[in-house]
Order: sequence, then structure tokens, then C-alpha cells
Amino acid sequence: MALPDSFLQELLAKNDIESVVSSYVAMKRRGRNLVGLCPFHGEKTASFNLYPETSSFYCFGCGAGGDVITFIKRIENLDYMDAIRFLADRAGMRMPENRQENDQTSRLRLRILEANREAARLYHAALYRPEGKVALDYYHSRGYTDATIKHFGLGFAPPGWDYLLKALRTKGFKDEELVAAFLAARGRNGGAYDIFRNRAMIPIIDIRGNVVGFGGRVLDDSKPKYINTEGTLAFSKSRNLFALNFAKNAGRELNLCEGYMDVIAMHQAGFTNTVAALGTAFPEEQMQLIARYADKINLIFDADGAGQKATKRAIDNLRKTGLDVKVVTIPDGKDPDEYIRKNGAAAFKLLLERSANAVEYRLLEISKSHSILTPDGKLAYFREAATVLAELESPVERDVYAGRLSEMLSISKDSILREIESRRKKKNRQEMKYQLPNLMRQESKEMRQVNPDALTYPRAASAEESLLGTLILHPDYIRQIAMLLPADEIVTEFNRNLYKRLLERQRQGLLVELAFLAADYDEDGMAYISRMVRDARERAVSAEDVAAYAAIIREEYALRYMTNPEGASDEDIQGMLDALRARKKK
Ligand code: CTP
Ligand code: MN
Repeated sequence: MALPDSFLQELLAKNDIESVVSSYVAMKRRGRNLVGLCPFHGEKTASFNLYPETSSFYCFGCGAGGDVITFIKRIENLDYMDAIRFLADRAGMRMPENRQENDQTSRLRLRILEANREAARLYHAALYRPEGKVALDYYHSRGYTDATIKHFGLGFAPPGWDYLLKALRTKGFKDEELVAAFLAARGRNGGAYDIFRNRAMIPIIDIRGNVVGFGGRVLDDSKPKYINTEGTLAFSKSRNLFALNFAKNAGRELNLCEGYMDVIAMHQAGFTNTVAALGTAFPEEQMQLIARYADKINLIFDADGAGQKATKRAIDNLRKTGLDVKVVTIPDGKDPDEYIRKNGAAAFKLLLERSANAVEYRLLEISKSHSILTPDGKLAYFREAATVLAELESPVERDVYAGRLSEMLSISKDSILREIESRRKKKNRQEMKYQLPNLMRQESKEMRQVNPDALTYPRAASAEESLLGTLILHPDYIRQIAMLLPADEIVTEFNRNLYKRLLERQRQGLLVELAFLAADYDEDGMAYISRMVRDARERAVSAEDVAAYAAIIREEYALRYMTNPEGASDEDIQGMLDALRARKKK
């Protein structure tokens, strides 16, 4: 579906690339541009560049690039229309009237959301009927107040195979809709039955207030402890966080817990900036979601083995987001829920304040595996600790920790700093060695795939790309060039089509900007185009230069037919002669 230009313009105005990107990546200003760690590949030195002037980004490390829509497509893993919808939501805009709503998938998605909402109501109401007393008692036994139960919309799925099915059928839902919602499943005979039976029900609500899924916990020790909604049209585990709907308004510092029950207890104790990951994988995508809402994150995981593993995984993926990470260790192997119940909110607040940052946490972990009382242990500890400190980008932080290490190990701070520096140098060399060939490979792969002609006609392609990059950067040159250079004379196919698009937009008086191309090009195409723009930006280009590019292109076009005149029409030959004549004059 083609979106009206006016809609796109408003969308882009309300989603300026700087604020959109900054909500995922910590960006630092460098002159007119901003730089940060690329969210699309793991790196430790910033090669991800943002150019507010052209509303575009480009990563020198992996070659990713494009406009704000392409950025959202990649980072949220969405297709073009969903990326548009995402940005519209973000800006509080309504999508233009579209055929999309009639489209079956989005209709089913809406039905799933409606079914979930009804189910949440029914589960909550069931809690206050006689058969729900077991569950209500269970919540109370965990110390949850009625206000908390209401706030989170907690509920109860009664036992039996068709409690929900029956109730929702009478409200007009079809079995297949409930199956698609992960509320019902089909048995061997094809009949549907309730998935959630005899469980405490915790609705998962997204940032827009939709009930997107449920966690269902047993009321005793039976297994499985939880049943959770799995990947429906309305829900993906890695794109949601439990309680983000509340926590997103609680400031730029978030607490991340392991479980639903912890989060609920934390909110009740006043820590309303708490969320839980839905699972223990902590995928990068989910960590990026956190980075959109927070600058600081406190990891509050169980002290058991599983919790420690989870902490490591989360730290690794969080480090890529540039967030400030702290780790809260709860004494006596408790989880936050138990700790608060036993010691109260004030005690927990103290824990939070005293919590170590990620570096301290890692140093502590290392110290557990080496005894610094023996010379060997001391050396082993020092080696691993130096590796951790070498990863710190801030010289001040390196200095602080080197000081601490020096006291601990009675090694001079100077020699510690020297060791760290030499590790950093080595690491940088390795990264450079890796990045450069990687980039070259990436660029030539792109070339082959996106514009294979560029390998056959490198000079033409290079002039074309200089020209096109300049035209996107300075659309006011398009009119002049349109008269100098007929579209058919662009030698390579990809560039020819791009040129035609630019001319067409200019002819219709439409805005020429990278973002308007996102509808027509995939991510590789956009990366290819944004590289042209990046290169053009690095040269200051005058009107004469633009004309010179056009002349080279015409020349290349003519030369092509000199070597292969059979393919040329009379017109082609005339064009070729014109071009050569023009060249002589100079
Ligand atoms: N979890 C799950 N399936 C399980 C166990 C756990 O999906 N069989 C997930 C749930 O999201 C749960 C989180 O992992 O919230 C943490 O697990 P756990 O600490 O065992 O659960 P709690 O919610 O803390 O429950 P409780 O305090 O009652 O043990
Ligand atoms: Mn727990």
C-alpha cells in the first residue's frame, strides 16, 4: 500500500532520527554528527554514525545504513509497514485509512487481543467467586494486597477443560481464534480445550495497554510451575517485558527481575520501576527494548546458580546497549519477593543503593574462583581482572579500578595501568584487523547483490554513486542534472532506477529524502544508498562537480557502445557523439 506523502512527512517530522536512535543506542555528539556503538553488530569502539542533517545513519563497522524507517525495520525486526505503524504509534499518530485493517492477519491479531482482554476479565472475576477462593488465598499468602491484585489484574483460571472456551464462545469467539490466542489448544480428536486450568493467572500487558498474553502459575508444587503464552500474532517474548506498561513512566532507571512474582512484590513495595524479562534468555532484542526506556538498569536476580548464569547472560547483552548496569545481590540466597516480605522495603532500598556495578560484579565473580592468598592465585586473578578493566572505555573508571586492584593485590597501580593499556592496544589492533577486511567483504558482497553491474562498470558506477549521493544530499541540483543527463544513460541498473525515482519525485514536487526510498528498497539497498550519501557528505560538492559527474557518466555510457556498437540504436549513437563532443569542448 502506498502511503500518502503528507502522512510520511508528518511521521518523519515527529520521529526525528536523533531521538529515535538515541532511545536504543547511547550516542555521543561529535561535531555535527553523533557516534555510538553499533546495535547491529558487536563492537567496542564506536563506528555507528548518525547524521542529523540528512536524517541518516551509517555504520563503518558492518555497513548497515539508511534512514529512520530502515533503522526501525532492522532494530525491531519489522517489515516496512510494521515499522511505519511502530513509528506512528510512537508519535501518537493514526495510520491513514487503509486496506490493511481488512487484511486477515491484522484482523486475527485484533481478535486475539479482544479474546485476551475478555479472558483477563473472566479470570479476575473468577477470583472473587467461591471456586476462586483457593487462588485469592494464595495471593494473600504471598502478601499481595487487594489493591495490588486489582492493579495487576491478577486472576484465576478454574479447573476443568472448557471454562474459558464456554464463556468466550458465548461472546462470539471462534475456537480457532482462541487457539490462535494460545488460550485453547486442540486435542487429538480435533476438539478444543482450555490451556490454562487451575492456575493463578497473570496478564501480560504491553505498553499500549493491550493484554498480549498470560503467565499461569500452579497453586501448589506441581509441574510445570508456569505455562506462558507462546508466540502468537499479538505476542513475542523477546519484544515484551512484564510490567513495562507501569514501569515505563517511572523514570529512566529500571530494575530487572527474574519473575512475575518478584515484580509484583516490588511494585507493591513502591519500586514501580521494575520489570521482568519473560524467560531467562535475555535476548539482545529485549535488552534493546530496555535501553529505550532506561539509561540505568539494576539486575536483581536470585542468588542461585541459575540466577547467576542469567546475570552473566544479561550483562553480556546489556553491555552492547551502552546502558549503565548494576547488579544487586540478595543475601541468603533469597529472591526479591521473599527478601522484601521478610525485611521490608527500606532494607531492600539499602541493597539497591549499595549494589555493585557490572565491573565490580565481574571482579567479584573472578575473585570467587581464585584465592589471592597464593602467588599463583593472585596472578590468575590479576590476569582476568585486567581483561575486565581493559574493556572499560572511560580512563577515569580504569584509573579507579586499577587503584582498587592495586590495594587488593599490593601491586603498584602504575604497572596495573600499563598492563591494561597494553591489553587495550592489542585488542584494538585485533578489532581493526577484523573490521577492515570485514567491511571490504561486506561492501563487495553488497555490490554483487545490490548492484552487480558495478563490478563490470566500476568507473561509471563510482561516478553515478557520487552523483546520486550528492543529489539526495542536495535535491536542489536535481532539476539542473535532469536536463544534462537522461536517465537511460545511467550505466548500472540499480543506480539507473534510483536516478529515475529521484527525477520522478522531483517532477511531482515531492520531498527528496532518504526516508522516502525506504518503501522501495530492502535493507541492503538502503545500506548501499546511504553509503553514497555518506561519501557525498564527506566531499563538499559544487554545481560544477555535479556536472562533471554527469559528464563522466555520459562518457562511460558512450564508451560502452563503442566497444559494443551492435547493440546501439541510432539514438544511442547520437547520444554517444553528443557526449564525446561535450568532452572535447572541456
Ligand atoms: N518460569 C517459567 N517456567 C517455569 C519456571 C519459571 O516460565 N517452569 C519463568 C517465569 O517467568 C518466572 C520466572 O521464570 O516468573 C522466574 O522463575 P521462578 O523464580 O521459579 O518463579 P517466580 O515467579 O519467582 O515464582 P515463585 O516465587 O512462586 O517461585
Ligand atoms: Mn520467586
